[in-house]
Amino acid sequence: MAQHSQVYCDHAAGSPCRPEVAQVWHEYATRFYANPGAHHPMAYEARRLLDESRARAAGVLGVDPREVVFTAGGTESDGLALRGVMKSVGPGRSELVISAIEHHAVLLEAERLRAEGHPVHLCPVSADGVLDLPALKKLVGPRTALFSVMHANNETGVIQPVQEVAAIARAAGARFHCDAVQAFGKLPCKPRELGADLLSLAGAKFGAPKGTGLLFNAMTSRLAPVVVGGPQEGGLRAGTENLPGIAALARAMELAEAERTQVWPRVQAVRDAMEARLRRALGDSLRVNGADAARLPGISNLSFTGIEGQALGIELGERGFSVGLGSACAPGETDPSHVLAAMGLSWEDAASCIRVSFGTEITQPQAERLADLCVACYRSLRGLG
Ligand SMILES: Cc1ncc(COP(=O)(O)O)c(C=O)c1O
Repeated sequence: MAQHSQVYCDHAAGSPCRPEVAQVWHEYATRFYANPGAHHPMAYEARRLLDESRARAAGVLGVDPREVVFTAGGTESDGLALRGVMKSVGPGRSELVISAIEHHAVLLEAERLRAEGHPVHLCPVSADGVLDLPALKKLVGPRTALFSVMHANNETGVIQPVQEVAAIARAAGARFHCDAVQAFGKLPCKPRELGADLLSLAGAKFGAPKGTGLLFNAMTSRLAPVVVGGPQEGGLRAGTENLPGIAALARAMELAEAERTQVWPRVQAVRDAMEARLRRALGDSLRVNGADAARLPGISNLSFTGIEGQALGIELGERGFSVGLGSACAPGETDPSHVLAAMGLSWEDAASCIRVSFGTEITQPQAERLADLCVACYRSLRGLG
């Protein structure tokens, strides 16, 4: 199976690095390699370029450069947000509220915090995967320190009412962290417009190299560091700065934001047409998870009654389409998705799903071919001839 002959339909797990971004990375890695913390002319140049990249990333988000903490991706940003807030607040504000459909980076950090004595409340979602706001309001109290709710879900693409969450957090005197890892480049993500005090991004989802990311942390939001050592990133993230990755991240942010409103409506139309084609062929044997909610344009989470999603994914891979199985962020996991379980799917229905996530290069004929292959493979896996 030649890898390059595959149609890549797993962008929610990782997007290709844009050639112009890779060029920036290469230039910085080979020319500006001095440590920005050192004291000589080449280090001063590296420091200047680091500051410039920070200002550019901040410019895209509409925030102050001092509010940008560069990290190694979404997981680290989420961990710094949760642990950083919960370990900096006093005992009077010890509680954390998260949604039941957060990424494992948030869920498992919350579990650790719970084990350390912080009460954690999980907010349920509707059958369509949208946060239950009345339930959220009931979980809030005078001891709530932080809310963490994602902008859009990585498995279903379902968009969450984050501005409403921000208002509830503000009224409760708590902070709001928004995991915008999937949303950035597809939805408006300016933290101040969303009402977020903290916001996580991962470069690998929008054309920057893997292992790049940032956490926006509002000037008013005090954080305890997680990685300690040197004074980098305002003391919040020790370690020599990854200047090539940071410069590439800033460039990818600018490019993704510049094209956002132009490129994704077409992808959404291609995705919708694929789902309609599948529905026509499979009727009730198909369930599009989160279909009635607002979703990110390229993601389609599909349950096929009576088969295993993994078997379908393998068949599609052999026929030239690389699709995801639920979330790619839980390697080796055999249990069906916690996201689909929170939406009320049975174990069997959750295990019968694949996640298709298109990038901007997808074409209508490719998506139609994928739909037709899904139908043919489904029939054969069910022994329907
Ligand atoms: C919503 C969300 N948050 C966090 C992460 C973790 O990001 P990273 O893999 O960059 O650590 C992911 C990765 O898929 C994600 O989709």
